[in-house]
Parts: sequence; C-alpha cells; structure tokens
Amino acid sequence: MAKVSASILACDQTRIGEQTAAAERAGADLLHVDVMDGVYVENLTYGPQLVADLKRISGLPVSVHMELLRPETFAPMFARAGADMITFQLDACPNPIHLLREIRGAGIRAGLGIGPAYDVECLRYLLHHMDWLILMSVEPGYGGQAFETSVYGKLRRARELMEETGVFVPISVDGGVKEETGRELVRAGADVLIAGSYIFQEGEIEERVRRLKAL
Ligand code: DX5
Ligand code: ZN
Repeated sequence: MAKVSASILACDQTRIGEQTAAAERAGADLLHVDVMDGVYVENLTYGPQLVADLKRISGLPVSVHMELLRPETFAPMFARAGADMITFQLDACPNPIHLLREIRGAGIRAGLGIGPAYDVECLRYLLHHMDWLILMSVEPGYGGQAFETSVYGKLRRARELMEETGVFVPISVDGGVKEETGRELVRAGADVLIAGSYIFQEGEIEERVRRLKAL
C-alpha cells in the first residue's frame, strides 16, 4: 500500500481548506504544494503564507514541491513557513548537494525532483544526501497532463540504484496518477502517489483518496 499525497493545484482554489480536509478525512497522508515561479515553468502559484495556513488548519505534513529557478533563495522562506518536506528540481539547481544539505540542516526532509526528460543515474551520487525522491511523470507546470510511461522504468532503475548503494529513500511519483497508473506504479515499487486532478477534479474527493490508498 502506497501513501497518498493530495496535490492542491487541482483544488477549487476558493475552497482549498474544505477540500484538503475531505482528503485528510479519507486517509490522505500528505498535502502536496506546487510552488511555481512563472520562469522555470510558465504557471504561477503559491507562496509561503499558504503553507503556514495549511499547517494551521491541517494535521497532515505539508510537502512543498518547488518548480522554480533559484530554489536556494526560496527554500528558507518555506522552511520558516513550516514545510515538512522541501523538494526542488534537479535541473533548476547547479549545486544540489549544497541545497539538500541546507534543507536538512533546517530540520526539514530534503527532496529532489527529476523531470520526465532526465535520467535517474545521477542518484547514485545524491541518494545519501536526500530523504525523498519525486519522479515526475509529467513536465512540471500544470495538473491534468498525460502520464509519461517512461517513469515505470525509471522507478525500477531508481530502486536498483538504492540496492546498489544501500541507501533507500521513499520514491514518490507525481503527475497523471489515477487508478490504473497508480496500480502499475505501486507494483513497480512507488512508495507515494501524488495526485491532483484524480482526487479533486471529479467530485467525490473522499472516495478517490480511498481508492488510491487501496491500490
Ligand atoms: C505538476 C505538479 C503536479 C500536479 C499533478 O507541475 O508538480 O504535482 O499537481 O497533477 P495531476 O495529478 O493532475 O497530474
Ligand atoms: Zn508536484
């Protein structure tokens, strides 16, 4: 059974509190907050205030997924806002080890996100610096995109690299996760399913979370 992380990008943005509460009631394990800067991706989203407010109203850990340039500038703001995990995109950061160390140093779980166009081989050199991996199965920027099936192979390869290095961190998959893709991902060894539109966009939030949890 994988954990479920509910991506608030797909919420009705005027009802984030109410809709995340429904996901929490149904057993969601985490809240996923995509922070976009309009530069690394063309979309623009949330700031640290939302993270602080989610921490106030929800008992769930808040996982910040920075889809932005200069993540080293923004990580401290989200740390101060109370984020439980902070992930940045590998291709947005020239010195990932340094930033992972800094995030960990703030007492927060440090995550690395790898986009669908990038290889996972470099994890060999990074695993022992991180607590959390996000394999993206869509290009960063928007919810509701088509799932890139190449992530299955990457998931298996990431597992192998963990076996080879003896360093194991939870693997999350982000983008296009629905019941069918989720089932395959769990089979391939995903620890966390991050889902937005499947959970929030077709009504029945609680039922959707329960279905993913049952995979
Ligand atoms: C994409 C985001 C994802 C997104 C997933 O840039 O990182 O977290 O919210 O949305 P769905 O589940 O709709 O693909
Ligand atoms: Zn995300």
